[in-house]
Amino acid sequence: MRISVIGAGYVGIVTAACLADRGIEVICSTHNEKNAQMINKGAAPFYEKDLEPMLKKAVKKGKLHCTTNREEAILNTDITFVTVGTPMRSDGSIDLSFIEQAAQEIGKALKNKREYQLIVVRSTVVPGTTRNLIGKKIEENGGKKLGESIGLCMQPEFLREGEAVNDTLNPDMIVIGELDKTSGDILESLQRKFYGEKCPTILRMNIESAEMVKYANNCFLATKISFANEIANICELVPRVDVKEVMKAIGFDHRINPKFLDAGAGWGGSCFAKDLNAMKAFSTNLGYKPKIITATLEVNEMQAKHIVELAEMKLGTLRDKRIALLGLSFKPNTDDMRDAPSIRISNNLVEKGATVVGYDPYATENAKKAIGEKISYAKSIDDCLKGADCAILVTEWDVFKDLKPIDFLKNMKQPILIDARRIYNPKEFSNKLQYIGIGMSNR
Ligand code: UGA
Repeated sequence: MRISVIGAGYVGIVTAACLADRGIEVICSTHNEKNAQMINKGAAPFYEKDLEPMLKKAVKKGKLHCTTNREEAILNTDITFVTVGTPMRSDGSIDLSFIEQAAQEIGKALKNKREYQLIVVRSTVVPGTTRNLIGKKIEENGGKKLGESIGLCMQPEFLREGEAVNDTLNPDMIVIGELDKTSGDILESLQRKFYGEKCPTILRMNIESAEMVKYANNCFLATKISFANEIANICELVPRVDVKEVMKAIGFDHRINPKFLDAGAGWGGSCFAKDLNAMKAFSTNLGYKPKIITATLEVNEMQAKHIVELAEMKLGTLRDKRIALLGLSFKPNTDDMRDAPSIRISNNLVEKGATVVGYDPYATENAKKAIGEKISYAKSIDDCLKGADCAILVTEWDVFKDLKPIDFLKNMKQPILIDARRIYNPKEFSNKLQYIGIGMSNR
């Protein structure tokens, strides 16, 4: 089986590299000439742990190459994965223009092909899109009927940034949404070949349910975090209650599990806000106003304001106060600033008249683009803390975990620390400075 991957973004390149690493021939296709050239040299166009060595090896062995010609990629392969982006429109709904274009191109290419081709949609799309938009466009442009010489599946992905290679190689489950049995059988056999004895549970279902699985998954994960943040906010009002102890305990309940229960500065990244808003718009359009998804978004928005209020509680007014933000990326080990909590926190602080200085070990360049000049950017932790009236630990990078109270004391004008990710020992820190931990009584 030879495979083409349409779209050389995050999911596309990781999928392509992993398949090629297991000896499967892969042709990647992107309209971005520069990225195609990079990939063909074995270089990843963005940083992702473990990706580049894998890519290099695959290119060197001749198992993977990238083209800007989609037709070439489709005509020379048996299965086509569609991984193009589905960004958020300004009204929160999903932008399907890249998907539509890819479907048209696939259709046109298949016009000139006699052999069977399986199309597998891996982009996150609202239920109905794979069949009614992608399927239809392929049929219209290809002059062929789905189910005859064209198969169609939807296989959602569950990759985390920074863990995408590992998540591809060790998924909890594989979901196959299928147009018909033939399509599902071909995709299942590819998965069984790829994973061998370590093949996880494969769940087969119709296409629309598979599309919904992806949204339900991200909505639930974001809800878990917003739930932890809500409990954290209540904990702060009660003497001696600590959200860390509470979440640790409920995480032992198998029905809950310990993951995604860390209260903090709120969630960010390229997918949660996009997918929750898309599902909210999709559902509202169908006549149901989702309550939990809306609350999850609201709690997340509120969390940034809450952190700023904690600073205000300590400092009185924030006007002309210097606030140091430690960590700007949406999570550690990435320079990705998309929807990062630091953006919301910065905006709230600046609105209240504070002077904000941020430091991030890796994301400063992207932060400059995302937040702009309303804050300044320090070159080191010491520079960031120097003269600050309050420090807020926003992203839990390892370099911040090593800091001791003295590092804050020696630099800051007023030693006030808001630990929005709970990485410091409250006892050790409260003895030396004014320590405020998210989710614990700070009275
Ligand atoms: C997320 C999902 O975890 C993936 O399964 C999914 O495939 C991906 O979105 C996607 O749809 O593409 P990712 O955005 O890479 O992956 O990031 P996560 O590791 O899930 O973290 C998201 C945010 O939640 C981060 O801002 C993180 O700091 C925050 N978080 C996470 C918490 O605040 N508390 C937690 O307990 C866990």
